[in-house]
Amino acid sequence: MKAVAVYESLWGNTEAVARAIAEGIGPDARALSTVEATPDRVADADLVVAGAPIQGFSLPGERMRAGIRPDTNPAPDLSAPTLRSWLERLPAGHGRSASFETKIRWSPGSATRVIDRELTKVGYPPLARAEHFVVDGKFGPLRDGELDRARRWGAELATISGGRRG
Ligand SMILES: Cc1cc2nc3c(=O)[nH]c(=O)nc-3n(C[C@H](O)[C@H](O)[C@H](O)COP(=O)(O)O)c2cc1C
Repeated sequence: MKAVAVYESLWGNTEAVARAIAEGIGPDARALSTVEATPDRVADADLVVAGAPIQGFSLPGERMRAGIRPDTNPAPDLSAPTLRSWLERLPAGHGRSASFETKIRWSPGSATRVIDRELTKVGYPPLARAEHFVVDGKFGPLRDGELDRARRWGAELATISGGRRG
């Protein structure tokens, strides 16, 4: 099984979750930013896991991204495109998917609803319910235990999709 975990992450929290999910899936699974996840690296994936922070109660778009000031402290990494624009360019494929989001505990809204919809459109319907990982402040850090939970979720996804082979 080929699996990739694609992430958007400005302050590193969603990236850390994606890396933990990939570890849980197995040794050959890769966590990739939206720059690294080129169409050829995703093309023959059996499982596409995709995650992003909730911003403004949804999956951030270009307007939300444009409003993030580069001189914010801590400094955001604005070098990779939004997951939303990555999804818009993702070529059609044949596989399954799973989505996750990072969020403040009390926030309404969802990024995963859009991620699931877009992945389904291009041939990667979800094989599990979307998962949420909690940050303790506007820029993180992740709440204690979330990375362990992400590893366990990755392992579950591997089991559901037919084997922990990466
Ligand atoms: C402009 C902005 C808007 C945000 N809006 C929300 C929101 O609506 N709901 C929420 O739960 N968290 C919100 N957050 C917190 C983000 O979810 C948090 O920054 C994110 O989980 C960090 O992930 P990252 O380090 O991978 O970028 C917002 C953060 C920023 C900077």
